[in-house]
Amino acid sequence: MEVFETIDELQQSLANHRKNQEAVGLVPTMGYLHKGHLELIKSSVNQNDITVCSIFVNPIQFNNPEDLKKYPHSIEKDIDMLKEANVSTVFRPGQKEMYPQKPETGIDFGRIGKILEGKFRPGHFNGVGLVVAKLFNIVRPDIAYFGEKDLQQLVIIRKLVADLNFRVRIEGIPTLREASGLAMSSRNARLNSKELESASLIYNSLKLAKKLLDEGATVEKALDGAVAVLNRDENISTEYINVVDLGSFEIIETGRPDKDVALCAAAFVGGVRLIDNIICKSTGRGEI
Ligand code: PAJ
Repeated sequence: MEVFETIDELQQSLANHRKNQEAVGLVPTMGYLHKGHLELIKSSVNQNDITVCSIFVNPIQFNNPEDLKKYPHSIEKDIDMLKEANVSTVFRPGQKEMYPQKPETGIDFGRIGKILEGKFRPGHFNGVGLVVAKLFNIVRPDIAYFGEKDLQQLVIIRKLVADLNFRVRIEGIPTLREASGLAMSSRNARLNSKELESASLIYNSLKLAKKLLDEGATVEKALDGAVAVLNRDENISTEYINVVDLGSFEIIETGRPDKDVALCAAAFVGGVRLIDNIICKSTGRGEI
């Protein structure tokens, strides 16, 4: 496995692979890797000749400086995991390599960028869009892999690719969960055992809301049910829980949805901000 810290060295290596017509997969990450990340990596290793995994904690996507400061790091362990997973190439640039000067360019994702995560983390998607666009230009992958865990991010990356004609296919990978249902996340490392238990209620509440929608309940009733579960635990402070149309990613406020939707939530547990979602297909829904 090759590990590069500079764009030049990475691109020289990729140019050699490309001469041999090798397909390149890209898995962008911020490190502190867990089994959820490995799902993306496994898909890339299976579907491409070489896999580039990038590890870069992107400062411009953190709207909260404390959150950035507390973001966990474990580069040696990450490198071991990537070796084990047969990744061919790791790209771990420093701040100066990615941002030799403060970027002035912004990417405005319009309405989708301003709801849910975009509403509570102003500037977040601009930062994500910018770093992912840079990684696409640096690596020029054939396929890039993103998790459904960050559903809005996945939707926004698909928009970025469509609107700016990036020549890359985007693969969305289902969320890997702990046995408790809690979505795996680098941030879970900051939770104690009691908080981990509380955090698992986020997925439980989403599952309950999905069940209610599947049984024909209205959006209001389904969300009331989920909020009641979350409110019962004093360790949890819910930031938002919404139903969105999976096609348009518009928030659905009322009524019985007749389309595929997703339930998306963000909540603080012990000061750690967690997000999760569940997809609800209209075909699974009972008679209305
Ligand atoms: P990070 O949080 O490190 O996540 C990297 C990728 O792993 C994302 O596409 C995310 O959706 C996926 N992922 C995280 N937890 C997962 C889980 N439990 N199951 C499946 N996939 C999971 O997301 C980012 O980094 C950054 O915003 C990035 C795209 C790298 C841009 O900086």
